[in-house]
Amino acid sequence: MPRRVSSLDNQDWPVGSSARLRLPEDVKESLKGRRVLVTGGSGFIGANFLLESVPELPETSFRNLDALTYAAHPDSLIPLAALPNYSFVRADLRERERTQEIVREFAPDIIFHFAAESHVDRSIAAPAAFIETNVLGTFHLLEAARGLAKTPVFHHVSTDEVYGSLGEEGYFVETTPYDPSSPYSASKASSDHLVRAYARTYGLRTRITNCSNNYGPYQFPEKLIPLMILNARDGRELPVYGQGTNVRDWLFVTDHVSALWAALSRGRDGETYNIGGNAEARNIDIVQSICDLVAQATEQDPAKVRSLIRFVPDRPGHDLRYAIDATKIRTECGWRPTESLKTGLERTVRWYLAHDAWVKACSHQDHKAWLEKNYQARIGSGASL
Ligand code: NAD
Ligand code: DAU
Repeated sequence: MPRRVSSLDNQDWPVGSSARLRLPEDVKESLKGRRVLVTGGSGFIGANFLLESVPELPETSFRNLDALTYAAHPDSLIPLAALPNYSFVRADLRERERTQEIVREFAPDIIFHFAAESHVDRSIAAPAAFIETNVLGTFHLLEAARGLAKTPVFHHVSTDEVYGSLGEEGYFVETTPYDPSSPYSASKASSDHLVRAYARTYGLRTRITNCSNNYGPYQFPEKLIPLMILNARDGRELPVYGQGTNVRDWLFVTDHVSALWAALSRGRDGETYNIGGNAEARNIDIVQSICDLVAQATEQDPAKVRSLIRFVPDRPGHDLRYAIDATKIRTECGWRPTESLKTGLERTVRWYLAHDAWVKACSHQDHKAWLEKNYQARIGSGASL
């Protein structure tokens, strides 16, 4: 499928490579003395955001508000513990008073709102928490933000899943109508609408970014890529939904981090920006690549690792294809992704194989119960390659 490339492409962002976030000097200068509240900073993308941003901006104060649900991994943030511009508060956005109290006390200039229930399959099995955190929690945070004497910029971190499913052609643009398929995506769509309404009604300064599938270090191993890496390492079945022909547009997580800063600093109030990796792949191709990378790293026979693949009953309401047209953030904010899917997958496999203590800490009772509930019957009725 051909990609549109704009002649306005100024590509001043990011500076350097994706190995480490390097913000342009004018942006660093403008953030000096600012206070940044990050919700959900102990989860996958929030942790990568903080690990990159806190050392890069020593004169900016960051506070991480997180409820520490099953998906959180506080140890990811150990490298920040000694830094004077980082602090953590455990709080649940579902609690309105507590949320208000923390926001009032910290008085942020900027809020990056990552906190959410984020796993589609869990939203199908048990949707209530998704409505409570993603809709009600966002409402509480918006109320707290508009109650401040000096209202902050509210950056809502959202997903491309709000747009529903594409067929084999076309891309999501910022004006694509919302058409969510799962309780998760419906709850994120709902929160996007609330953020937009607060911009129009109360004049709250906002950004909404709708991003494609992230992957990379620190992702909880319920999601496709880390689940497959660890199952392949351990010789367990690799459960591919349906025929594995669903397509996702993959973005290495640190490229998402640089996109968030680009949209915040170069973007406009009240606007929405799509973020994508320009890296579409079918699930089965991702899983086979993972098999080969794990086989190579662990000195196993690649054919033997691939033989663990099982085609299992599909996810209900499974969106066929996501693909982002990121022209707007590229042309307005100068952002582009820097990591290719090939090198990003290699880095991710290496990271999971080298961080066994981190992986082991994910293996708590909640996760074990989830794996049993979601996969046991599926794998029993699955077919091999
Ligand atoms: P994650 O599940 O890894 O982390 C979510 C974090 O939010 C956890 O630390 C959790 O403890 C916290 N949290 C959950 N409920 C909370 C509550 N009620 N109060 C306070 N904290 C709470 O999620 P992620 O993959 O890092 O996603 C972060 C954000 O990015 C989400 O809003 C998600 O919708 C969005 N997003 C994710 C992707 C992706 O591919 N992972 C892509 C696009 C957008
Ligand atoms: O597009 C952005 C979204 O990407 C984010 O908003 C979500 O928070 C994030 O979880 C992700 O959603 P997906 O549902 O696309 O991700 P997941 O890793 O769950 O699944 C990726 C694809 O792999 C999807 O087509 C379903 C399939 N899959 C997933 C799992 C967990 C399998 O085939 N087998 C599996 O076991």
